[in-house]
Amino acid sequence: MTATAPTKTILRALAGETLPTPPIWMMRQAGRYLPEYKATRAQAGDFLSLCYNPELAAEVTLQPIRRYGFDAAILFADILLVPQALGADLWFVTGEGPRLSTLNDMVGVEALKPVDAIHDTLSPVYETVKILSRELPAETTLIGFAGAPWTVATYMIAGRGTPDQAPAHAMREGAPEAFDALIDRITAATIEYLSMQIDAGAEVVKIFDSWAGSLKGDAFLRYSLEPARKITAALKARHPGIPVIAFPREAGDGYIGFARATRADCVAIDNSVSPEWAAEHVQVDGCVQGNLASSHMVTGGQALVDATERVVRAFRNGPHIFNLGHGITPDADPENVALMIETVRNCRD
Ligand code: CP3
Repeated sequence: MTATAPTKTILRALAGETLPTPPIWMMRQAGRYLPEYKATRAQAGDFLSLCYNPELAAEVTLQPIRRYGFDAAILFADILLVPQALGADLWFVTGEGPRLSTLNDMVGVEALKPVDAIHDTLSPVYETVKILSRELPAETTLIGFAGAPWTVATYMIAGRGTPDQAPAHAMREGAPEAFDALIDRITAATIEYLSMQIDAGAEVVKIFDSWAGSLKGDAFLRYSLEPARKITAALKARHPGIPVIAFPREAGDGYIGFARATRADCVAIDNSVSPEWAAEHVQVDGCVQGNLASSHMVTGGQALVDATERVVRAFRNGPHIFNLGHGITPDADPENVALMIETVRNCRD
């Protein structure tokens, strides 16, 4: 079998091609800043019911593609479905965020379900992927995703989002065996989950390590880089050629060499580092994604145009997928998203 060169722009960038105009998509592109998302969510009931309803989850995934013509669609789901599939209780408190049952020792880890059991809960997500791979326009790439083990563990340990991930750091230092067992369990579940998404039609997968920035030194290597490497290796062994995007958010110097060490095809960059720095230190190894501050989607105007052009120009000499540095927020103006896309697509030298 001979490999054929990809034609979709996102896949070309991930294969290392420098394109005259970077392909573009946006983290949280299906979300509360869009009136059509809010309408479908109201129809579904709550957020989790939307995640587990394949027809409606596919519908909200398609909404930003119809409205803006993004080059990629990202499966609509959440990183916290994996803990739920492993047996954690999960619910969302409106205006506050996720809540989960907590764990902090080996008894808690051993009470989790075995990895094989996750598909009982997660099979509706695979159905969403199947619907999307039928319904997306031919030029649009379908991205599947999961949370990285460290980020998922921070929620499973604390039972909620935490500003400094202190409960997870306390377990990492105070109960290292149980912590390692938890990371291993999530890593194994993530490999199975992403593998099923790929079987169902995901063309790229992204690993979100939103809290990587609070791991320093050896802990960063062991709990952010190493799980990303393991997941990438397992997926590429099972699905040769599948591109992987890694997002060790706020890793700072940890971004340097991350793609080389994990064999990820692309590193997504947050906006705490400048695009010029990332071009010099990270894009040297291959494709990067990012990194416009999502606050511009709220404020708009000439500052948005200038910052967007700066990102495009900084990454112009290598493979680049344009994105925000983190997810778009509910207070964003949909008009500003249109202005960002127009600016990216019209930016010449
Ligand atoms: O990007 C997309 O459009 C795809 C869908 C997606 C969601 N969450 C939908 C969502 C993706 C890729 C995620 C990832 C996710 N979820 C992360 C990693 C990326 C990041 O943002 O750092 C994390 C940490 C979560 C966990 C999570 N889910 C939190 C902390 C919250 C509450 C905060 C908030 O924005 O309300 C969610 C809820 C959530 N996930 C919403 C959406 C659209 C909002 C829920 C709603 O409709 O009320």
